[in-house]
Amino acid sequence: MPPITGCAYYPEHWPAERWATDAGLMQQAGLSVVRLAEFAWDKMEPQPGVYDFDWLQQAIDTLAEAGLKIVLCTPTATPPPWLTHQHPEICRVEVGGVRVSPGARRQPCGNVPAFRSAARHIVERMAERFGDHPAVIGWQIDNEFGVGETTRCVCDHCRAAFQQWLAEKYGTLETLNAAWGTQFWGMTYHDWSHIPVPGITNEPQSPSMRLDYRRFSSDTWEQFQRMQIDLLRHYSPGRWITHNFMTRHWSLDYWKLAEDLDFVSFDNYPHGVSEPAEVSMNLDLMRSLKRRPFWVMEQQPGPVNWHPYRPPVPPGQVRTWTHQAIAHGAEAVVYFRFRASRVGQEQYHTGLLKWDASLDRAFHEAQTVARDLAELPDLSRPPARVGIVFDYNDLWSIELEPANQNFSYWNLVFAIYRAYWAVNIPVDFVPRGADPAGYDTLIVPAPILIHPGEADTWRAWVEQGGRLIVTFRAGVRESSNIATGGPLPGGGLADLIGARVTDFYSVPPGSYASWPDHRAGSQIGAVTNGRTLAYHTWAETLAPTTAEPLFVYNDGLTAGQAAITRNAIGQGEAIYLGCWPEDIAELARLLEWIPGTASRLQQVSLVDANGAPWRLTLNHSGQRVEGLDGFAIRYQNKIGEA
Ligand code: GAL
Repeated sequence: MPPITGCAYYPEHWPAERWATDAGLMQQAGLSVVRLAEFAWDKMEPQPGVYDFDWLQQAIDTLAEAGLKIVLCTPTATPPPWLTHQHPEICRVEVGGVRVSPGARRQPCGNVPAFRSAARHIVERMAERFGDHPAVIGWQIDNEFGVGETTRCVCDHCRAAFQQWLAEKYGTLETLNAAWGTQFWGMTYHDWSHIPVPGITNEPQSPSMRLDYRRFSSDTWEQFQRMQIDLLRHYSPGRWITHNFMTRHWSLDYWKLAEDLDFVSFDNYPHGVSEPAEVSMNLDLMRSLKRRPFWVMEQQPGPVNWHPYRPPVPPGQVRTWTHQAIAHGAEAVVYFRFRASRVGQEQYHTGLLKWDASLDRAFHEAQTVARDLAELPDLSRPPARVGIVFDYNDLWSIELEPANQNFSYWNLVFAIYRAYWAVNIPVDFVPRGADPAGYDTLIVPAPILIHPGEADTWRAWVEQGGRLIVTFRAGVRESSNIATGGPLPGGGLADLIGARVTDFYSVPPGSYASWPDHRAGSQIGAVTNGRTLAYHTWAETLAPTTAEPLFVYNDGLTAGQAAITRNAIGQGEAIYLGCWPEDIAELARLLEWIPGTASRLQQVSLVDANGAPWRLTLNHSGQRVEGLDGFAIRYQNKIGEA
């Protein structure tokens, strides 16, 4: 299926007389899908148990008459005022005990029975009414679980649910006490009900408790999602179900949240990230979550209300963003929103239409995209040969105790990703524990938590010719977030990399004067030719057993010791990075993991249905580069032919 485009539409914001005109404009923009209703619970159930779906039926029918297909959303992100009034306990309690107020969105706690039951009812009624409407092709559950730090709640319901979750996980308090090491600061539990949730304390609470609390909070929304999925599967057979995931979001374990969905969707707001490479990284992560194409359920169409500077979006950029998303595996791109809202919190958010219904620039760019797509054959990405492991539990463990306030798991993953992006090497993300079969290279950034057996899986693949690259902070902790009592790196990794970590150091920033000999900017040198690289944030000294050192530390506390090692195994190799090079791309070039020169344009290799190669080139800058205008794109086929 060729990719399609669409928009988010809010018929509840506009008079019914306007809907047909809007549907006609959507057609003119070349859109084929419309997403509806994610914030309209108040209109569908204006009073408890009193339902009004006629307006939505009329809107769906009007849009369907114009040939548009409908994505319906369950409205559980915005419980109506009568519900939060009747049940104030629905609103989340933040660490510190403050209950959030109604009046915005996503205020509910996922564990409050009154909310769960009200959510169940509205979803069931909605699915009953529209589940077999011929224009409805699929469902979006809720909207952006976790947006605005709303995943976690510490209300009494959550505390009880957390204690229950722990009882199911650990079985006995003895097991939990041992797994968490509760004897530290005298925290041995003799009753499940004594176990706390995160709160304001003078010093940090147990990192084991807090890691489990994060897992529990993520599971809460996964269960909430599953409750809705079960209803929709029953009442709306044959329709797909998705949820819209976010940029730079890690309060939810997206690998797990993705499991029950037919495909994931992504809300693509490039102004929410640092640079085009990070947009690509997010898109690749979304494709990887289910190893299949995804939808962009919201695409930024212009300046956004929530950005501190609301920067402009130059001509051409919306079209470029759309093609970038498609090239990374999006099979639909849905612009958010059709028309800029005249009311509410997002009046400064652009749409395809302006407040006065005149056409904004994105309308014309959407039209151009539709024309582009009509002219292109169905293109897909050939499989990536490089995998990067990404894991929310590793991220959480490090976030809870970074041991260097500049240590960001996300930034480490991004630094590695960017080295490959800059030379246009396609990359997939891979979950912990997965078999890397099919990849030539697997990079594992800071796999801090031990997964028993994983090193054996990796070894079997390395023996067959795989290149495994593991970084510092590997195999340090058991899954309950306590340090391993064995050699570092633990979990069998020491044998696999052929080296022991003899010590580890946080590396303070260059301006940190107390440690003049050991701070960012210190250097490592290549054993073969003395080429030097600066490193920052983290440094581990390595004692090779079967590995050969590739780089040694040149100065500071670590001088003379191995920093990067390579262990040849069978037809492959296991490389260990003991420190965080300032320029990972430079390291990758020196070790010949990537070719020599970075490209000034993003290039994506694609294939058509006959297997013929195509190339999409995207200029993410405002300047003309190599014959391509700023924010322009170019598709080429017959690659390699004159
Ligand atoms: C998304 C959200 C939308 C809208 C948009 C604004 O995060 O799902 O409802 O708020 O941001 O950019």
